[in-house]
Amino acid sequence: MNYDMLVKDIGQLILPESSHVPLKGERMKGLSIKEQAAFAVSEGKIAWIGSNKDAGTLNAELIISADNKVVSPGLVDPHTHLVFGGSREGELELKQQGMPYLEILEKGGGILSTVAATKQSTEEELVKKAAHHLETSIAHGVTTLEAKSGYGLDKETELKQLRVVKILASTYPIRLVSTFLGPHAVPPEYKESVSAFIEEMISLLNVIKEEELAEFVDIFCETGVFSIEQSRIFLEAAKEKGYGLKMHADEIYSLGGTELAVSLGAVSVDHLVAATDIGIEKLASSNTVAVLLPGTTFYLGKNTYAKARKIIDTGGAVALATDFNPGSSVTENLQVIMSLAALKLQMTAEEIWNAVTVNAAHAIGKSEEAGTLELGRKADFVIWDIPTYQYLPYHYGINHAYSVYVKGKKIWE
Ligand code: NIG
Ligand code: FE
Repeated sequence: MNYDMLVKDIGQLILPESSHVPLKGERMKGLSIKEQAAFAVSEGKIAWIGSNKDAGTLNAELIISADNKVVSPGLVDPHTHLVFGGSREGELELKQQGMPYLEILEKGGGILSTVAATKQSTEEELVKKAAHHLETSIAHGVTTLEAKSGYGLDKETELKQLRVVKILASTYPIRLVSTFLGPHAVPPEYKESVSAFIEEMISLLNVIKEEELAEFVDIFCETGVFSIEQSRIFLEAAKEKGYGLKMHADEIYSLGGTELAVSLGAVSVDHLVAATDIGIEKLASSNTVAVLLPGTTFYLGKNTYAKARKIIDTGGAVALATDFNPGSSVTENLQVIMSLAALKLQMTAEEIWNAVTVNAAHAIGKSEEAGTLELGRKADFVIWDIPTYQYLPYHYGINHAYSVYVKGKKIWE
């Protein structure tokens, strides 16, 4: 057999368990590591996985030596706000003076200031800016990324943001998954009629579907933003129209968003810093993935992080994401999040790798095509310049990616 490519001399090949359901509890704690490994690619797909010893007899057009480095599936970032206008460095000072995140929003800053900047940006400007952020993400090992709208809060700008994601999806080799987050904040003109705004966002679901602009919907369920009841109305309407569901829930106050997301069969429920024990138990008996965002807790200057240990030990599935956005988590670097998961969420290296590969793929409904390396799968992988898989979360704040491949083609080095 003649292969297109052979990757050999792999010190450690990270092989997350392939599974039709998210890895939960004990399964999430295990990770298969193949030492002195090799694999071959044909027509962009994994065609052979074996030991380095056996690789010597194989023929391939292109032979790459991984030089004893670590190789993993391409990372999956299942929660980002990739497309937005402007930036909010001015808010750092307000934060230093002690003004809480929700108060900045209440005063018309925060998300609402990014909404104003996004409305003012042309589609071309947004494409250019988001492309730059996307390239940074790819350079850090991401080959699948979810991107949300939510800085429009009106038809024209929400659709503009979603179209930008569609353009990027057709120009970049990586997999992009699009989410409509119309109910991300309450526009000032709807302050007294939040339910009318929810109806307005529901009215966009048909056109978004017709233009194939999003697979998922999301809502920011929080005190002073959208209530549990408003979230239920929006999510149920979206479910009826065939969207997958996601939710920003229990981030600052315990409103019971985790329970709601599970009861509606959401693919993920995200943040969960304030999730209750009841919510955590509900998660464990479901296939809804808890997407934890420790970068946001860090960036908001808080000391209390999501209870990852409790969620995993109770039997829930955890994924990790950057939450990349211009206000509460200004980084595209998923590797930093892996370090925060080790240091602040007390997750093990095995759990962390599962959380940025197989479980992250489940959190965006892409487990059939992303997050694992297995025969017949697209060869999306990263060669890491590290000696062991435990090393990545340990050495924090820098980029350990050596080269990034999608469908067997190098897209970054
Ligand atoms: O996930 N919590 C709400 N939305 C984003 C922040 C967006 C922003 O501040 O611009 C989040 O943290
Ligand atoms: Fe977010």
